[in-house]
Amino acid sequence: MEITVRQVDKEEVWELRHKVMWADKPFDYIKLEDDDLGIHYGLFKGDDLISVISLFINNRECQFRKFATLQLEQGKGYGSTLLDYIIKEAQNNGVKRIWCNARKNKVDFYKKFGLQETNSSFMKEGKSYVIMEAYVQSIMGIT
Ligand SMILES: CC(C)(COP(=O)(O)OP(=O)(O)OC[C@H]1O[C@@H](n2cnc3c(N)ncnc32)[C@H](O)[C@@H]1OP(=O)(O)O)[C@@H](O)C(=O)NCCC(=O)NCCS
Repeated sequence: MEITVRQVDKEEVWELRHKVMWADKPFDYIKLEDDDLGIHYGLFKGDDLISVISLFINNRECQFRKFATLQLEQGKGYGSTLLDYIIKEAQNNGVKRIWCNARKNKVDFYKKFGLQETNSSFMKEGKSYVIMEAYVQSIMGIT
């Protein structure tokens, strides 16, 4: 089955976000106030949406949020493909710093993509998070 990555509308990421990340909360819980400002990406296997992530670019800094792969499709490399793709997109857009609020159990995963833990961490809804970041060079060589 063909794997493709493309930009999607915010409505397309909501269902997967809800199912994977906060299934025990009401549907609206996973909507972000900033979703209109985000660039949303989906990885598809054939026509099926398997993994999603949202980028928020601000002053050459880019936060990625709400990264989720369908449970049954996790651990097969789809999330890595999507993360690689959006890191390149960020570079192409002249982003200098890419960061996320990482769930603590995902720290080692993000390290593989060159993100490092900062010393900012926090708890939310019983889950612990740490801010992770990487300074990226623009492919275009813009400083
Ligand atoms: C985080 C998340 C999006 C990753 O998506 P994914 O599609 O499972 O990502 P991958 O398959 O590329 O990588 C997951 C793991 O499988 C491993 N893996 C990748 N391809 C593999 C393969 N072909 N065979 C075996 N293992 C593989 C990766 O090395 C990685 O290992 P690690 O977690 O020990 O570092 C997914 O786990 C998820 O949705 N989690 C719940 C929501 C969540 O926590 N979101 C992130 C909040 S910070």
